[in-house]
Amino acid sequence: MAALWGGRFTKDTDKLVYDFNASIGFDRKLYRQDIQGSMAHARMLARQGILTEDEGEQIQKGLEGILRDVEEGRLAITSQYEDIHSFVEANLTERIGEAGKKLHTGRSRNDQVALDMKLYTREQAQGTDSLLKSLLEVILDTMEKNRDTYMPGFTHLQKAQPITLAHHYGAYFEMFSRDRDRLRDLIRRMNYCPLGAGALAGTTYPLDREYTAQLLGFAGPTRNSIDSVSDRDYLIEFLSDLSLIMMHLSRFCEEIILWNSNEYQFVELDDAYSTGSSIMPQKKNPDIAELVRGKTGRVYGALMGLLTTMKGLPLAYDKDMQEDKEASFDAMETVQSCLILFTGMIKTMHFRRERMAASAKEGFTNATDAADYLVGKGVPFRDAHGIVGRLVLRCLEKKCAIDDMPLEELRQISEKFEADVYDAISLKTCVEKRLTEGAPGPVAMDQEIRAYRAYLDEA
Ligand code: ARG
Repeated sequence: MAALWGGRFTKDTDKLVYDFNASIGFDRKLYRQDIQGSMAHARMLARQGILTEDEGEQIQKGLEGILRDVEEGRLAITSQYEDIHSFVEANLTERIGEAGKKLHTGRSRNDQVALDMKLYTREQAQGTDSLLKSLLEVILDTMEKNRDTYMPGFTHLQKAQPITLAHHYGAYFEMFSRDRDRLRDLIRRMNYCPLGAGALAGTTYPLDREYTAQLLGFAGPTRNSIDSVSDRDYLIEFLSDLSLIMMHLSRFCEEIILWNSNEYQFVELDDAYSTGSSIMPQKKNPDIAELVRGKTGRVYGALMGLLTTMKGLPLAYDKDMQEDKEASFDAMETVQSCLILFTGMIKTMHFRRERMAASAKEGFTNATDAADYLVGKGVPFRDAHGIVGRLVLRCLEKKCAIDDMPLEELRQISEKFEADVYDAISLKTCVEKRLTEGAPGPVAMDQEIRAYRAYLDEA
């Protein structure tokens, strides 16, 4: 137990209190960010003449050594220290002596931990963004190959109108590209450096906050020192962004689970991405999709947890804020592994195109087009709707699709039907005629795909 205080105390911390208070078990993840922040702080202190050149050098070398030793497994981060900050400082002093004790000049653990978390969050947001990009690549590849893979579009989970697989995937492209936008927006808003805010009221040393901010890749220093140490908005925003990503993944998973079911048979998951049953030999289960859907709950949990932790906290720093870490780290890791697994799963998934087209055909998805056909022959839309409704009823009795009905029977329901109806209500025509921007028709879809390709080429 190497405490960072002591002078004011006459006895040691109770062991249970010490353990309850300690954060090393989870903030060890921040070692790289903590060292990076300390290096910038020390460089600035030396540049400002608060430390000598030589002290600055020694600290730099000492910190580099600690970083190297931790990364190469020669130095373990053990629970002998209260938190990652004391671990780094104690090791530094052990290595370089007196100069090590000067590192914390003009700094508090409050601005230090605020910095560490920001650096960590920024990196994680960038990592998540590039995983989203890989997912978008797979989605777009699938779109390019499936401009005329017909399938039913659904509302209320009832077959509605015919669409293409490219069109359906385009919806997910939109969602995940909005997720990327949100992450970029977050990074832009959070990218100000809290270092130099001290415990809450700045310091009396002539720190150059612009300089440390610049060294650490921030747009500048934060403004208000109280807010600097008490702000966790960016983390809550990140968890909210992550929750939205999970919500999108979860909806996609839900569809894949349905599509992979015996009832739909639209897709078949690759063997490498499915699991079997210990008792039922015929089973090939979509466990990965189910797990991603299930893990959505814990990411939402992290968001709710932190919002609740923060809601009653008086300014500036309170120890409650140490609770910002465990669930957030878990959420960040969960989302990244879900993105990796999900991307692999859909990349290897096989589409059963004939089944998808047959399903669109069986489900009267061309009923609207049949009504539109009658409108083209001069029937008012409301009447056409009624006629096609009766026609569907007849088809249900006969267990056939509209376009499988012989012309005489169609004409028994309305004289307006003629031989050209079959072409007018084929799946191909139904899709091709949908030409409004954002629709599945080939002209609109080509435009959409070109725009998506340009977007992915750019960033
Ligand atoms: N472990 C603490 C945290 O994660 C570091 C900051 C401690 N500051 C303090 N004043 N006790 O929030």
